[in-house]
Amino acid sequence: MSAGTSGLFVSFEGIDGSGKSTQARLLEEALAAEGRSVVRTREPGGSPGAEEIRRLLVEGEPDRWSAETELLLFNAARRDHVETLIVPALAQGEIVITDRFADSTRVYQGATRGDLRETVDILHALMIGREPDVTLIIDMDPALALERGLARRSGEDRFEDFGLPFQEKLRDGFQALAAATPRCHLIDGNRAPEAIAHEVIALIRTHL
Ligand code: ADP
Ligand code: TYD
Repeated sequence: MSAGTSGLFVSFEGIDGSGKSTQARLLEEALAAEGRSVVRTREPGGSPGAEEIRRLLVEGEPDRWSAETELLLFNAARRDHVETLIVPALAQGEIVITDRFADSTRVYQGATRGDLRETVDILHALMIGREPDVTLIIDMDPALALERGLARRSGEDRFEDFGLPFQEKLRDGFQALAAATPRCHLIDGNRAPEAIAHEVIALIRTHL
């Protein structure tokens, strides 16, 4: 997808229940309070078409889809999200904050549910073709994160229902990604939300 954008594209990543949504909201509030133009969004979803696909992905039985089918659904949702929301907002010079993006696919589908990493990268290059400018990976104890996530009882627990060993693998996957990718910053999520937000905002300021 074409570049030529002027805004800042920020993503939050991490295991389920690690505090991504909370931090995305706190960052949005802090930047908006400074009068900056911010769009906060999420994946899977973020645009009307992608939100319809989201329901297919986050509800129902864990074995509802094969890893391959899931990968195609995430990419379909992402393509719509990128085309209809992310690229237009960045072109307007806005700061786009997304709760998850392609790194979730790399880690969830690419590294943990079948050895699909190469397919993930090829599909991404063909159909999405862009990365965030900055990625904040919230790192924390999977047992605690799972407890937090399930306590929400959102009805969207298909991935949480894979259980603790799955979340532990995901954490390892995110840590490996952070070590190998300069745009990714590992953030310690085992702190009060305000302390985490303080570090996140300071980091984002260096990109503005
Ligand atoms: P995610 O988007 O990563 O799934 P959320 O931001 O929705 O995570 O947080 C999961 C749950 O944990 C929510 O109930 C939220 O209020 C709570 N929470 C978020 N951040 C913290 C934190 N730093 N300390 C304690 N609880 C938190
Ligand atoms: P999300 O609503 O962010 O879950 P949570 O708030 O529990 O972190 O995302 C829904 C689920 O979809 C989540 O378990 C991670 C998974 N997911 C993937 O497996 N691949 C992807 O590419 C994306 C964006 C999400």
